[in-house]
Amino acid sequence: MIPVNSVLQVGHFPEIMQAEIDRRLSPVRHLNLDAPIPSGNFEAILIRSNTKLPQSLIQQIPSIRLVATCGVGYDNLPLPYLKANNIKASNTPGVLNDAVCELAIGMMLSLMRRIPESQEYVKSSAWSKAPFKLTTTLAGKRVGIAGMGRIGQDLAQRLEPFKVEIAYTGPSPKKFPYTYYQSIQELAKASDVLFLACPATPKTEKLVNAKVLDALGPSGYLINIARGSVVDEVALLDALQHNQIAGAALDVFDNEPNPNSAFFSLNNVLLTPHIGSATSETRIAMTNLAVDNLEAFFTQQPLPSEVNN
Ligand code: 8YV
Repeated sequence: MIPVNSVLQVGHFPEIMQAEIDRRLSPVRHLNLDAPIPSGNFEAILIRSNTKLPQSLIQQIPSIRLVATCGVGYDNLPLPYLKANNIKASNTPGVLNDAVCELAIGMMLSLMRRIPESQEYVKSSAWSKAPFKLTTTLAGKRVGIAGMGRIGQDLAQRLEPFKVEIAYTGPSPKKFPYTYYQSIQELAKASDVLFLACPATPKTEKLVNAKVLDALGPSGYLINIARGSVVDEVALLDALQHNQIAGAALDVFDNEPNPNSAFFSLNNVLLTPHIGSATSETRIAMTNLAVDNLEAFFTQQPLPSEVNN
């Protein structure tokens, strides 16, 4: 049982997620972060990973002992403050892998085969004047994955039937049947398609810079399903504008939901509005895992997915 008035919901949740939350508990909602914090005996915060949790907010509620974020990423949380104050954090790993990987594969194929552009070709009747231009085959290509965590591993498994060679980078080599590269620059050099599936941390900030893009080269594709912060967007825009890479499929950006509009006029990009986990099934599963963590906390059970902070 989650006691009444003990959970503060910070920020909006989409309707389907809010319905699931309200089915299982009655959080006090704090939707406008500029408004004063409502009163209650709050011990836990429930938030989405796309809502930044200001440190100043938790500082005003010293009774908080848990922050349950709904999302696998937890770069929205002030982790050093939580750690210093013995406040636990939880996230929602695993349950979104299928949706995120399905989108990642779809983005890669759409970008390489220019599917959105080819649909426009049919709709505009350009087809009657000339056939659509030739595109690029995936089979036989080298695919690199930066970040071999849960999502990276699921992605690799899904890529295997596509007849590609798989390699990866990350903090250390793991027991996978794929080639390991210590640096992303080496991986980019050895890749025709480079996926970003790593967490956003101070170490991965602007991991993909001008040098990495140069190593990927004019026939290389970048797919980012991680976080905008992992890429130096200025360098990426420059590389795309000058065809220094073949193209980029981006689900995440620096300034969401208002990404740099310079991306919009490029014809070598595929842009999606951070929809990796955005299926009804997945969002319901994520919400339930976030609430499972709250329930475990209030019944003094181990958290199903505690963040190792
Ligand atoms: C969502 C995500 O957009 O899980 C993550 O870290 O980036 C996406 O699944 C986010 O969780 C919003 O709640």
